[in-house]
Amino acid sequence: MFRDLVDDLDDFSTEPGKLLDVPFVPTDDDVIEAMLNLGEVGPKDLLYDLGSGDGRILIAAARYRGTRGVGVEIDPLRIADAMDEAGHVRVEYLVDFIEEDIFTADVSDATVVTIYLLESINVQLRPRFLSELRPGTRIISHAFDMGDWKADEKLELRGDNLRGVNIYKWVVPAQVAGVWEWDGLDDKRYRVELQQKYQEVTGRAWLADEAVDLKSAKLYGGCLELEIQGAETTSLKTFTLTFDKNDIQSICEDT
Ligand SMILES: C[S@@+](CC[C@H](N)C(=O)[O-])C[C@H]1O[C@@H](n2cnc3c(N)ncnc32)[C@H](O)[C@@H]1O
Repeated sequence: MFRDLVDDLDDFSTEPGKLLDVPFVPTDDDVIEAMLNLGEVGPKDLLYDLGSGDGRILIAAARYRGTRGVGVEIDPLRIADAMDEAGHVRVEYLVDFIEEDIFTADVSDATVVTIYLLESINVQLRPRFLSELRPGTRIISHAFDMGDWKADEKLELRGDNLRGVNIYKWVVPAQVAGVWEWDGLDDKRYRVELQQKYQEVTGRAWLADEAVDLKSAKLYGGCLELEIQGAETTSLKTFTLTFDKNDIQSICEDT
């Protein structure tokens, strides 16, 4: 449906001289509910909706979950509608709508970002999502994927009005590529050399300067779990490294 609408419009302007990258097509209430559930959106979150339209995603999150929200929207008429509705349902103290372009707006303090844009736009926003959002921030997209950044979760919604709508969730990964060294509880020096493509991590490991087996490396937000196997006779070591952006904050060894 979205694609048909996009194809039918010459440009997406609502006002002379104002070009939209995506037309206004609102998200249905039951899709909003599913998106907020997938993002585990709650009262501690700061939710940004990029291209917030009439503000319905943020207003629902504020109204039913007590979530603070910021809408980034280029069309002032939509912003006016959003503010009216927020006042009408008395959540204006939780939500803010700013007239700005999604390509320049600062979203770095978000804990969750919702998008209902286009795959090509998601791909353009991707480098900024990865570099500007904190590790662990969730991105929830209605209908559109994000190129070769594989979603952590994808849900196909079913129901009378949903007609197989897909929603996607990505968790922003920390930047963990590089060489990291630390001492284990056995007083031996551990070293790993890691490569990364989004949340997928591969690499090699050394124990006291001897090459050993890096059995697995799993990254979820700022949390990297490494399984390292020394000599066959020794037990498998599991370390959890916590990153903030691109530096280690803590290292825990499972005992
Ligand atoms: C498909 S609608 C989604 C509306 C709302 N997020 C929802 O899901 O109900 C996309 C919105 O993005 C806005 N938009 C398009 N290009 C934009 C841009 N460059 N910067 C900010 N907003 C933009 C449109 O005005 C429209 O309201």
